[in-house]
Amino acid sequence: MDFVLRLLFSLFLLISLFSGRGSAGGVYNHHHHQRHRLRPTKLFVFGDSYVDTGNILIPLSSAQSFPYGITFPRKPSGRFSDGRVLTDFAARYVGLKSPIPFSIRNRVGLRRLKETGVNFAFGGTGVFDTSFPFPNMTTQIDFFQQLQHGHSLSTKTDNQFSAALVSVSGNDYSLDIITNGPKQGLKPFINTVVNQIIVDLKRIGELGVKKIAVTGLGPLGCLPAFTAPSSFKKCNESINSFVKFHNFLLKKAVKKLNQETKHSSKVFVLDVYGAFMSIIEGGKRYNNGEFKTPLKPCCFGVKSGFNCGSVDGEGKKMFVLCKDPKKAFYWDAVHPTQQGWAAAFSALKAFRNHF
Ligand SMILES: *[C@@H]1O[C@H](CO)[C@@H](O)[C@H](O)[C@H]1NC(C)=O
Ligand SMILES: *[C@@H]1O[C@H](CO)[C@@H](O)[C@H](O)[C@H]1NC(C)=O
Repeated sequence: MDFVLRLLFSLFLLISLFSGRGSAGGVYNHHHHQRHRLRPTKLFVFGDSYVDTGNILIPLSSAQSFPYGITFPRKPSGRFSDGRVLTDFAARYVGLKSPIPFSIRNRVGLRRLKETGVNFAFGGTGVFDTSFPFPNMTTQIDFFQQLQHGHSLSTKTDNQFSAALVSVSGNDYSLDIITNGPKQGLKPFINTVVNQIIVDLKRIGELGVKKIAVTGLGPLGCLPAFTAPSSFKKCNESINSFVKFHNFLLKKAVKKLNQETKHSSKVFVLDVYGAFMSIIEGGKRYNNGEFKTPLKPCCFGVKSGFNCGSVDGEGKKMFVLCKDPKKAFYWDAVHPTQQGWAAAFSALKAFRNHF
């Protein structure tokens, strides 16, 4: 009898593992059965161009110009790449459609928003205001909060089954700051940025999202913008050591946050630095010779490296474009290609292990 009861109970557990997104709330956090883990039912995305899938609708934005989007969807889509970006790979991995960009929320039904979640990320933004006139992360989270209240898009209870992807890729650090340091000193400034990231993560958690992935900085010193002086051969180590310090502080602060919020939400840091470096340094596992010159971008401006997609007064292209974006890791001066993101995503173990 005892045996039968136990068998029934195990069966019930199994069934709720497989079917219960609605009721088996506690199961979500039990990680002993890695392969049976419940996948998030919605993805909310915050941050910058590494995850923006089309929030900037201004026609003059580079992401709205040729050759952005030539690989996917074969026309500019507002993504800062030739095709898909981190968000698209993350959504596909958890079995969801890519979340709808907030800016076009009124073009799709509420039902579609409820199915997939929403992407609030705007290229060029940071946790603080940058030189781009787009909503900073505080405002992006305000949008999330307003949608929850106004449209019952996802109640706090729903959010138990939601995940967030938060990208902070370095727009808070202008070139001037990296080179000359801000007035208050570089390290205190990095601390200020990291503290603001923590404030933002905490708020997303308080809105009910249980699992949050936040990006560390990638190797900014390896961006084509900074390797152009060495003909795309050598990363700038002084910029990379700045990046490492930011990542060190972020990991430490996230660990502390997780200790404080043990029973509500959990934050994972995505090691973008390690993922990009494993490709750039030609680690066999993530770069099967597909990127022969991983530091060389596919699309680079002739006057300023940043001007991929620009044309002069006569409509003449002011950039050079490679033949096959699939063979390039970097798309333009600061962003990976779709193929680059595919390789980087497969190296982002924290996401693959926890989502
Ligand atoms: C974000 O933008 C809002 C609106 O412009 C501004 O009021 C706020 O101070 C900014 N927040 C941060 C942390 O910079
Ligand atoms: C690395 O970048 C910094 C900041 O832009 C610059 O001052 C320095 O000269 C660069 N180093 C090399 C080796 O290019």
